[in-house]
Amino acid sequence: MNQPLPLQDRVAIITGAGSRGGQGEAEARLFAENGARVVIADLPGSEGAAIAAELGDRGLFVDLDVTSEEAWTACVAHVAEHWAHPDILVNNAGVWLAKRLEETSAAEFRRVVEINETGTFLGMAAVVEGMKERRSGAIVNICSVAGMKGGGQPFAYAASKWAVRGMTRVAAYDLAPFGIRVNSISPGVVATPMIGGGPEELERLASFIPSGRVAEPREIATVALFLASDASSYVSGIEVTADAALTA
Ligand SMILES: NC(=O)c1ccc[n+]([C@@H]2O[C@H](COP(=O)([O-])OP(=O)(O)OC[C@H]3O[C@@H](n4cnc5c(N)ncnc54)[C@H](O)[C@@H]3O)[C@@H](O)[C@H]2O)c1
Repeated sequence: MNQPLPLQDRVAIITGAGSRGGQGEAEARLFAENGARVVIADLPGSEGAAIAAELGDRGLFVDLDVTSEEAWTACVAHVAEHWAHPDILVNNAGVWLAKRLEETSAAEFRRVVEINETGTFLGMAAVVEGMKERRSGAIVNICSVAGMKGGGQPFAYAASKWAVRGMTRVAAYDLAPFGIRVNSISPGVVATPMIGGGPEELERLASFIPSGRVAEPREIATVALFLASDASSYVSGIEVTADAALTA
């Protein structure tokens, strides 16, 4: 008899999954391969609609700006009507800003915080009531090693990722009685459009990493799959660092 797949028929929203070559796309493909129905939630200018179409009846694109509470309400309602209330949320959408404190304007700081931090809060808030009713749910928040230390980190980006780590732990504690698990992943350097640059830049970045290479997006997606599936049924409130010993 065939074993059910780890995410068989689970409904997963993955934000920022409309970047071709990004971590969200890798998560969407891996989740679909593992039986999930996947909502690619991203901005209209992204490749989200095309990526969702490539997943066939396991993919659905929803135009979502993670900073908009109204858009989140509409997204979750649409998904519930189309398939079911989401079982899984991966808060993956994010923006990078390589600036120190004294180079960062207030508007730039607010934008990074609004997307990386407030967007994650709004996503959790939008799915949590339905998850509580069902007494089950798995939330995975994408942080960064930039949110694990001070030195050498871009100011607003690091601040926003520190906050996501904190929100993850607070939410995990509060939501555990309702069967909802909340965990985070802190990737090191991953070869995605966010990093940009050609092979030379990737080689330069790899020279700082003990394993001597940057991560492929799928190497982060496999961690997200573990945290989203019942394989991690007793795991909540943890931070998985996926950085090949960069912060060891
Ligand atoms: N690439 C890395 O080295 C690295 C390392 C650590 C953490 N991260 C984190 O991993 C996550 C994924 O990053 P990636 O490297 O795949 O980047 P990426 O730039 O390829 O993808 C980011 C996605 O977020 C989307 N997005 C941006 N603003 C949005 C908004 N307001 N609403 C909805 N979607 C929005 C973009 O459209 C894009 O599709 C991010 O949270 C990032 O901070 C990346």
